[in-house]
Amino acid sequence: MALDNQMIETARLDDLVGKAVSELGAGYGGVMIAIGNRLGLYRAMAGVGPMTSHEVAQAAGCAERYVREWLNAQAAGGYVAYHLASQTYELTPEQAAILADDTSPVFMPAIWEVVAAAWADAGQTAQAIRTGKGVAWGDHDGGLHCGVAAFFRNGYRASLVPEWLPSLEGVVPRLQAGARVADIGCGHGHSTLLMAEAFPNSRFLGIDTHPASITAARANAQQAGLSDRVEFLLADARAPLPGVFDLICFFDCLHDLGYPVEAARRAREALAPDGTLMLVEPAASDRVEENLNPIGRIYYTGSTWLCCAHAISEEGTHVLGAQAGEARLAQVCREAGFSRIRKAIQTPFNLILEARP
Ligand SMILES: C[S@@+](CC[C@H](N)C(=O)[O-])C[C@H]1O[C@@H](n2cnc3c(N)ncnc32)[C@H](O)[C@@H]1O
Repeated sequence: MALDNQMIETARLDDLVGKAVSELGAGYGGVMIAIGNRLGLYRAMAGVGPMTSHEVAQAAGCAERYVREWLNAQAAGGYVAYHLASQTYELTPEQAAILADDTSPVFMPAIWEVVAAAWADAGQTAQAIRTGKGVAWGDHDGGLHCGVAAFFRNGYRASLVPEWLPSLEGVVPRLQAGARVADIGCGHGHSTLLMAEAFPNSRFLGIDTHPASITAARANAQQAGLSDRVEFLLADARAPLPGVFDLICFFDCLHDLGYPVEAARRAREALAPDGTLMLVEPAASDRVEENLNPIGRIYYTGSTWLCCAHAISEEGTHVLGAQAGEARLAQVCREAGFSRIRKAIQTPFNLILEARP
C-alpha cells in the first residue's frame, strides 16, 4: 500500500518512530536481561559498587570482551550506571532490586523468559489466531511455565500472606486454627506453599491439569519440607474436589478456564457452609478503554496467546480473557451459586475477589 504523504503529520510520525525505536531497544534488550540473569552477571555486581568490565567478567566467570559489550547495552538501557571518569559500571540498589534479587517483588528477569516463550510459540499463536483453534497451557514452550511460576511467586510472597488473606473476612484466624485449603490451577505450587509455610495447622491441596507443573509443585513441596501438610494432585477443576474445604483459591486461573462457572460450582459444592472462595485475578476494569495502559497491554498480550488460547482449547462455555474484570468474574460466581461477592483488595497488578455461599 502506498503511503499518502499528504495525510502524514510529521510530528506524530516522529513520535511514533521514537516510540517504536525505544520499544525495539526494550524488546531486543530483554534477551540480554534474561542472559544477564542466567549467567549471574547482575548478581555479581549487586552491592559491590563501581566495577570494571574485567571485574564483572571475573566475578561471574564470563569472557570480558562479551561482558563489556553487554554492560554497555545495559548502561544504554538505564539498567546499569556508567561512571565516565573511572570507566566503571555499577548496579544501583534500585537496579539490583529489579535485576539481581530474585526474592524481590519487583524482580523482572523471570518475565523475560515468558516473553522468550511467546516468541518461540509465535508460529503456533499465529496459526491459532488464523484458525480459531485453542492452545492448551501445557502445549507451550517450556520456558513459559517456569517463567510464570518464578514471576508470580515473588508477587505472592510479598502480598498473599501479609495483605490478601487478611483482606478476606475471618479467614486468617481459621487458617491459624487449622483449616482445609484447596488451590485450583496451582501451577508450580508457590501460592500453596506460601500459605502452608505460614499456617502450619492447616492442610493444603493443590490441583492442576498440567502434569509437569504438578511434578514441579511436588518437588517444590519436598524441597521446602512441607510435604507433610501439602498434597498436589493432577486433576481438572471441573471434577468434584476430594473433601470439604474452608478456603478455595484460584490464583490467576479462573479466567483461563473454558468452564469457569462449572469450576466455581465445584468449588461452591466443596466449600464448608461458612467457607470462602478467593479469586486472584489480573487487575482490570470492566471497560476496555480503562485497560488501555501499560499493564493492560501486558495482560491483553498474555491473554491473546495464553489465557484465551487455553480457554478455547477446553471447548467450554466461556473465553473470559485475562482482563475479565470484576463484573464478569462476579457474574461467574453468582451463576455458580455464590451469593455474597465483593472486591477484597485491588493492587496495580491484581484484583482479589471474595465469594461466599
Ligand atoms: C496462569 S497459570 C497460573 C498458575 C498458578 N496458579 C500461579 O499463579 O502461578 C494457570 C494454571 O491453570 C491450570 N489449568 C488450566 N486449566 C485447568 C483446569 N481445567 N483444571 C485445573 N487447572 C487448570 C494450568 O495448567 C496452569 O497451571
